[in-house]
Amino acid sequence: MAMKVSCGRGIVVTSKDCCAQVLYRYGSAFNSPIRLQTCATKVSHKVIYRSINMTRASSFFESKLSGWKVTKSSYVATRNTGTMNSPVGLSLGEAVCLQPKISHSKNGQEVILKWLGGRELRFHAVWLRYNCQCPECVQPYSGQRLLEAGEVNPDITVESAYVSEDGTELHLKWAGSYHEGHVRLDFLRKNSYHGHKETVSRHQVTQMPSISYEEVMSGKRGLLRWLQHINKDGMCLVKGAPTDLNSLIKVVQRIGPVQETIYGKLFGVESTPNPINVAYSSVKLDYHMDLVYYESPPGLQFLHCIRFDDCVVGGENFMLNVMAVAELFRQQHPADFEILTKVPATFQKVHFARSEPVLMKYQRPHINLNHRGEIVNVIWSPQFEGPLFAEYDDVLPYYQAYHKFSKAIQNSQNCVKLRLKPGEILTFNNRTILHARTSFELNGGERKLQGCYLNIDEYKSKLAVLAHLLEDNQPVKHVGNQCWF
Ligand SMILES: [Fe+2]
Ligand SMILES: [Zn+2]
Repeated sequence: MAMKVSCGRGIVVTSKDCCAQVLYRYGSAFNSPIRLQTCATKVSHKVIYRSINMTRASSFFESKLSGWKVTKSSYVATRNTGTMNSPVGLSLGEAVCLQPKISHSKNGQEVILKWLGGRELRFHAVWLRYNCQCPECVQPYSGQRLLEAGEVNPDITVESAYVSEDGTELHLKWAGSYHEGHVRLDFLRKNSYHGHKETVSRHQVTQMPSISYEEVMSGKRGLLRWLQHINKDGMCLVKGAPTDLNSLIKVVQRIGPVQETIYGKLFGVESTPNPINVAYSSVKLDYHMDLVYYESPPGLQFLHCIRFDDCVVGGENFMLNVMAVAELFRQQHPADFEILTKVPATFQKVHFARSEPVLMKYQRPHINLNHRGEIVNVIWSPQFEGPLFAEYDDVLPYYQAYHKFSKAIQNSQNCVKLRLKPGEILTFNNRTILHARTSFELNGGERKLQGCYLNIDEYKSKLAVLAHLLEDNQPVKHVGNQCWF
């Protein structure tokens, strides 16, 4: 029978003369004693417990296993044997790979960590030196680096390396520098740069995910689920919110502070005479992102439907993942794609005839790539484009590519269409999702939305923090904010 090896957060229990052979099953009751068997080879001295609640688990073991050292680890590998009920919601498993074998290559300029399961991580000696976590190199409380930028010779080599007894740290001695320090193994696993990692999501959805207002407002789990929907699908509909003008801000503040812009903290989207933005009228709005003339355009956008009368004809919203469109465009029109990554477009808001005049201009290409050629950002907002200011010979190729890309967006079938209902809050990532609206006729009724924004960094941080605190293993995906990760 093939056994499944799984990795995750867990508890490492260390003794002097015993090791693996504790079996697990997910559960709440603990009826059988923990079985610990001496390992003949004494390769390791640890028993691994994977857990959904590390604090509960470690205090359980501290009370049950006197004379054993209990440590928390963010990476343990276990082989699920599933033969025993577990204590306090734990998964117990037979440990399969505990400590990596360490070897050097390139005369100590590289350190290789190799686990039994076959996983291998490689680090340059100079990288390890810059990431030394000893108190001389990193200030303990702030976590800020104390090591000076020019202090390390890039040709530095590692003289010796070993894993600490509790299996959590890689201890290092660098040759010639007379420095000894350490780097946590979980840090090395998280920050491994050897080998390609796919981080950018090109997931195109055609169905709007949703969550209830109660769930979002009730606890951290609901909040995390909402943010994960937005992270995975780029959008999520909150259903069942009150329809007053004070509710939206309370919902948004669950994530972080509202991002104030030239449209204020909150903006009303309804048809008005002489609008300061085309959105505040009843005309059709083609696919676009908001406020792309800012260096950091808003991250999340929230549109709270206050009123949308049945007699109103039109006014439906369309949502489209532009990252996915751009990826397909690269395959179908590689030369045009390349042009859109090189030639900068102009994005602007120039408006003097408003109470607070605005003159913002920002120049950048429509598509931005990272060092691995992955699309990390797309900017698309034809309504806010200013005059192209490019090299003379680039102008024609640019407009040819621009024309094809705009057709690819318009013709994309993989969009989500919806007609908002009062009490719904449409939430989406303004950096990956384009939004559009059909024109509408009020016919004596009303269509009234209230909107606001939240900075992309605060959104991403809240998502990562909640996932960490709630020990959720779902990785945070790229949010399209041009970050190269
Ligand atoms: Fe908009
Ligand atoms: Zn150090």
